[in-house]
Amino acid sequence: MLLVTGASGHLGSLIHAGLAERGLAPLAGTRTPGRFADAGRTMDFDDPAGPDLTGVRVLVLVSAGYGEDDVVLARHDRVVSAAERHGVQHVVYTSLVGAGDHLAFALAHRWTERRLRESRLSWTILRNGLYAELFGQLAAPVGGAVTAPFGTGAVAAVARQDLADAAVRVAADPAAHRDRTYELTGPVAFTAAGLAAELGVPYHPVSLGERRAALVGPDLLPFQPAMLMSIYSATAAGFLAETRDDLAGLLSRPPRDPVPVAVAAAGAGA
Ligand SMILES: NC(=O)c1ccc[n+]([C@@H]2O[C@H](COP(=O)([O-])OP(=O)(O)OC[C@H]3O[C@@H](n4cnc5c(N)ncnc54)[C@H](OP(=O)(O)O)[C@@H]3O)[C@@H](O)[C@H]2O)c1
Repeated sequence: MLLVTGASGHLGSLIHAGLAERGLAPLAGTRTPGRFADAGRTMDFDDPAGPDLTGVRVLVLVSAGYGEDDVVLARHDRVVSAAERHGVQHVVYTSLVGAGDHLAFALAHRWTERRLRESRLSWTILRNGLYAELFGQLAAPVGGAVTAPFGTGAVAAVARQDLADAAVRVAADPAAHRDRTYELTGPVAFTAAGLAAELGVPYHPVSLGERRAALVGPDLLPFQPAMLMSIYSATAAGFLAETRDDLAGLLSRPPRDPVPVAVAAAGAGA
């Protein structure tokens, strides 16, 4: 049996749907199993008892990365421990691209990768690049201009659907990808200035300090400003620009152009 965690999230739902389309009848691991009729299994990684992975052969572990590092490490440790306990054969983990090591949320991904490598499970690590959708949302115009502090740095952002398609291919044939790590970037790197031009608005980036000062409000959790600021900094410093061809190899086709995906997300958020 195949099980996808985070199945009602953006990435997990696409992976779940892709596996279902292939007739692989995936189970949906989620905190809201009611959404998945008979094919849902309650899965809250914050439950100290750990998730029930009985009968699961292949586990697609979508990172549950919103939280302080100690929270995320504990979540992922519970899942890997449960996978070992329940005899799961293969774990496909959605991680973070190697070029993202400067991002504030990189540590939890690298820790989870190490936990898997040192486990007795077989695994595949999908190091996902920054979502084009997220880059677009962060670059959405404010007051008629793109003001996000991305500097002149480019991002090899990638469409979430392509990352889901890659995960589906790996989960459908895990033996072919045993103990492999893939760097999944978009096919081109593009800038916030380029995005602004596509949107037909000027690019007037504020400073990092101005942006940080604006990150206040009841909707922001304490760990979020550091995460967001690290995306601006790493981009502006040029760390996220590297493109790799692992994704095309996994998909057996060219990846989607991430620019229109980011433009659509920026337009929706404007
Ligand atoms: N590469 C990038 O640009 C990027 C950007 C943002 C985040 N991420 C990472 O990629 C993951 C997937 O992205 P996404 O866009 O699909 O995020 P998302 O829509 O927020 O989905 C994340 C899902 O993780 C599951 N989850 C959260 N806390 C959990 C817990 N305590 N126990 C079990 N499941 C939990 C939830 O699934 P259910 O609702 O089904 O329970 C949630 O919907 C994120 O969680 C994050 O780690 C990557």
